[in-house]
Formats: sequence, structure tokens, C-alpha cells
Amino acid sequence: MKTLTPRVFVCLLSLAFVWSSELPSLAQAPTAQVTAQSPSLDAYRIFATTHEGDVARGASLFANEQKLACAKCHSVDGRASTAGPDLFAVGDKFGRRDLVEAVLIPSATISPGYGTVIVETKAGEEYQGVLKQATGAGLQLMGADGKLVSIATPDIKEQRGSTVSLMPEGSHAVLSLQEFTDLTEYLAALRQPESILVSNHGLPGLIPVLAKPVTAQPFFPQELQLPRSRVQTGLTAFHQVPGFGNVFLVLHQKGMIWRMEKTKAGEEKTVFADLTSEVFSLRGPNGLLDMAFHPKFHQNRKYYLKYQVFEEGKVTTVIVEKQFTADFKGDSGKPARRIIKIVSVAEDHSGGCLAFGPDGFLYIVMGDTGPHNDPNGHAQNLQLLLGKLLRIDVDRTEDGLPYAVPSDNPFLGRAGARPEIWAYGFRNPWRFSFDRVTGDLWLADVGQDREEEVAIVHRGENHGWNVYEGFEPFSNEYRKEGRTFTTPVFAYKRKFGNSVTGGHVYRGDKQSSFYGVYLCGDYTSKRIFGLTQENGTLKNIRQIGSIPQGLVSFGSDEAGHIYAVGYEGMIYQLDFSESCFDEIKPE
Ligand code: HEC
Repeated sequence: MKTLTPRVFVCLLSLAFVWSSELPSLAQAPTAQVTAQSPSLDAYRIFATTHEGDVARGASLFANEQKLACAKCHSVDGRASTAGPDLFAVGDKFGRRDLVEAVLIPSATISPGYGTVIVETKAGEEYQGVLKQATGAGLQLMGADGKLVSIATPDIKEQRGSTVSLMPEGSHAVLSLQEFTDLTEYLAALRQPESILVSNHGLPGLIPVLAKPVTAQPFFPQELQLPRSRVQTGLTAFHQVPGFGNVFLVLHQKGMIWRMEKTKAGEEKTVFADLTSEVFSLRGPNGLLDMAFHPKFHQNRKYYLKYQVFEEGKVTTVIVEKQFTADFKGDSGKPARRIIKIVSVAEDHSGGCLAFGPDGFLYIVMGDTGPHNDPNGHAQNLQLLLGKLLRIDVDRTEDGLPYAVPSDNPFLGRAGARPEIWAYGFRNPWRFSFDRVTGDLWLADVGQDREEEVAIVHRGENHGWNVYEGFEPFSNEYRKEGRTFTTPVFAYKRKFGNSVTGGHVYRGDKQSSFYGVYLCGDYTSKRIFGLTQENGTLKNIRQIGSIPQGLVSFGSDEAGHIYAVGYEGMIYQLDFSESCFDEIKPE
């Protein structure tokens, strides 16, 4: 076997390092001829964001493999066949500034699912690449040279993720400022075609903006962020403690839970529980993701957490039951009861949340756990808990399990199917919630390359992945005879965002024009959407506002207020009082 990429992939953080000519470690791509006269990174940044480029010249630079290696790692036609993400809609996905950064400092933000995986074999070889396939038998990595390498499980000594992108730094250095700007212009022009956008009612080509947007007011003046490290982690969830109007719990991905009490003087912040030594949050959307309170919380003080741990060399999702202290002020410190454990195949798409339904059962979502494309068809496979919405009874135990399966679960008693499954065909269902008036289960599933989707989910339904991505056919590899698919209520394309965050149906002020409107948002575009539906078909959709931070979650309290959680550390309360859902800004 041959090593794909250099043993140690040096991350060049600034051009200063490039000057010190550590360039040989920049993959086997045609590398930059850097001279001492090369302009600084800032010069490229400033020039490319203040000048226009030429799309055609940029396209030929992109394709010019003598000069740049872009086309070796990136397709632009939606095939996604190479090591890097397909860039067919990258101009929708990123603004100019972010495109410039993506090329200048690839490792600053790593596109989910495209992180570098490092595998050491027992024979002492080391491979680096993007994970393309992972099964019990082994895995496949695609290296910077575009070659696919298969490594059998018995040969693997260690597998780990890296915070360094496979994409080389320093590509810009072979380009003049104008050429770099042309390349940027080309990337900015890569857009999803409009013609497809209007083909389905639930997939709007246009999302009207409210005349007066809903405002987002900081709910706690202080930011709730752990000290930043190179591996970025942030807030994931926000909940009111039931029955305690002014007491809230804020979850941080690394495993911290803070208790925040609103007082007349401001707020009191205390540590409610610290699980940082147990929670795995190093790579991907993993870590402490969400919590739920038992329906009889006031009597039994029980609550449930969903997080990842690293066990036997695998990222593993666990649901645990814990208990409040008798005074309801902190975690009791008693050992957690582990309810369920689900082992991931890759490190992505663990699904985000859990919640009790109006029926008193615990609903849990699980993603397909990757890699990209769900190449093993997890989400359509009823023998696995991956890519599913599960429903279990935590108040009973049966068959030696710490939980029981409710008697009306759709696949109970069916051969070749896990009885815990309530619905299936999900990719990375990050957030769902129940409408407290109708009981409707609204779920938002994060898409891969083309569409983000929002659905109302019923018992036994198949929501399509990876046969469909949103409304669009994706692959027939795991399509099974006789299966029917439920379409989303709403899906959106890249020009509106890249990662959907499900919210809540607004049930605050009954007089408000937003009463009964479902709210959701997008993590990357930071937009908040409001929508109404009839019999599962989209009726009205609006962009109702936005927040300044990554929109990672929504919270709601007993009074029906809605909160938006900013990944970087702020909690915002949405203020609907000055806005009207029916007043749209004229075009
Ligand atoms: C050795 C393979 C390789 C080469 C060469 C390469 N890239 Fe990449 N690129 C990647 C990988 C892998 C990622 C995803 C990881 C990351 O975000 O850094 C990526 C990410 C990106 C992104 C962000 C895409 C997204 O959806 O987040 C852009 C834009 C990009 N590359 C543009 C370029 C351009 C322009 C070039 C040529 C100058 C180039 N790349 C060369 C592998 C490569």
C-alpha cells in the first residue's frame, strides 16, 4: 500500500509560513511558486472584495490543472464525485467574503462531512483523505490525489479526524490579485438554476420578507461561550424548567449545562451539571445536543439528555435519564440511567433532539450518521435505528431493555424491522417539536447538497432520504418496491441557506397574526422563516427576521414565547408585537 498524502499535513496559518517555504507539504497538487514579493493575505482579501472579476477568466483558471488543482478535488455539476464538496451552488451557499476565506484559509471552517480522516494501519502506514464509505468490513478514503483507497477493518490500528482541511493552503499565491478576484467571481456565479426552483409549490423560488421583521432581543445580556479553542463548539439548546417561569437551562455542546435565573437585578448564572469529561464533541455536529423533561417532572424530577460519547473507538449517541435535586435547583449528581445507545458509522449526522409527545412517550431522532450520500442506505433500512424517528416508553422496561416499545408503534411485530421506529427516511433531523394545540409533529431535516426540508411527520411514514432529498429524486440504490414517500411541507434551496433548524408553532398571544405559524430558521444564513400549511401543503411562507449568530436551535416557554439560540453564545427572545405576518415588503 502507498501513502496517499504526506505524513504530516502542515497547516499554514499565514503567508508568513508560506514565505518560509514549507510548501512541499502542500499535497501533491501543483503548488504555489511563492516569492517574497507575493502580496499579503489581506491584500487578496481586500482586492477580491472591492473589485469585480471576470467570470469566464475565473472559470478557466479553475479548470487549469497546470496552475491550480481546484478541478481535481471539486466538481461543479452536482456529481460530487471527487474528494471536495461539489461547488455547483457554492455562490448561493457563501457570500463573497466567505468564498474568499474558504480559498485563502481552508481549515478555518471545514465543510461538514468533508473533514480529513487519518487512518493508521497495523502495518505502520498512514492514509489521509475524505471518508467516502464506511461499513463493518472497512472504509474508503479519497485522498488529495483523487484516488480512492480501501482499508479493511482488521488492518486498521487507529482512525481519527483532523481539524486540518484536505484542501491545500496557499493556492492563491500563484495568482495575481486580479486573477484571484476572477476566480472568486467565478465561484460567486455558481448558482442553483432558478428554473427548477419554481417547479413545486413547497419549494418556493421566492420567499417574501415581512414589511416589519420580527426582532430578536438579547434575553441574557452576557454571552454564554466557553473559551474558544481551535475546534469551535457552541451553544446547542435552551429550555425553561417546567413550572419555574424564570429559570432556564442552557446547553453547551462540550457538555456544560448552565442554570440561568432571571431576577429583577439581571440574571444569575450557575453550573447545573458538568458533563464535559464524558461528552464527545471534538468533530462534527456532536456533543451535548438536547434535553427533555419527563411529563411528570414535578413528581419524579426526571430529565433526559442526548449526547455523543466515544466508546470502543466509535462515536456513539446515548440517551440518558437523570434527576434534579429535591429543591429543583441542580442535577442530583446520581448516576445516570442509560436508556439507549446507538453507534455511528461515520461521525456525521447524529440527529439533534428528543422530546416527549402529547402521548407521554419519548421521541428521539437519529441521523444516518454518514458518510455523505448515505452510501449504505441506513435511512431506508428498517433494521437500523439510523436515519429514523424513534418512539419509546421510558416508564416501563421489557425484554431486558431499559425501556419498552409502545404497543401501537407501526413496526412492532414486523419481521426485519426495529420496533422502536416511528418514522424513517431522514438524513440529519436536527430539531423537531410538537404543536401544543394540534399535537402535530414538525420536523426539520438537514439536506445534503440541494434542499433543506420541513415536514409534518405521522406514524410509519417514509420521508424519503436517500431516495429523495427534499422534493428532488436523489438515488434509486435503496428504493424498495412498494414503498411510498411523504413529501415535505416546505423545502428550500441554497440561496436561502444551508442547514435548516426546526422551531416551534407560535402559541403565544392569541391575537397575534403569528398565532399558529410554524417558525424555523437556517443555521448558516441566520434567517428565520414563518409558514402556514393546509393538509400538509404549504400555504404561506415568509422570511420573518434573522439573528446575528448561527441559528442553532429554538426554545419556547410555557407562556408561548419563542427564543432563538445563537451558536456563538447569545439567547434571543423574538418580539412579534410590531410585526404582521400578512404584511410583506414590496419588491
Ligand atoms: C486536495 C483537494 C482540494 C483542492 C486541490 C482544492 N480543494 Fe477546495 N476543498 C477541498 C475539501 C476537502 C474541502 C472541504 C473541507 C473544507 O471545508 O475545507 C474544500 C472546500 C472548498 C470550498 C468550500 C466549499 C463548501 O461547500 O464548504 C471552496 C469554496 C473550495 N474548496 C474552493 C476551492 C478552489 C477555488 C480550489 C482551487 C484554488 C480548491 N478548492 C482546491 C479539497 C480541495
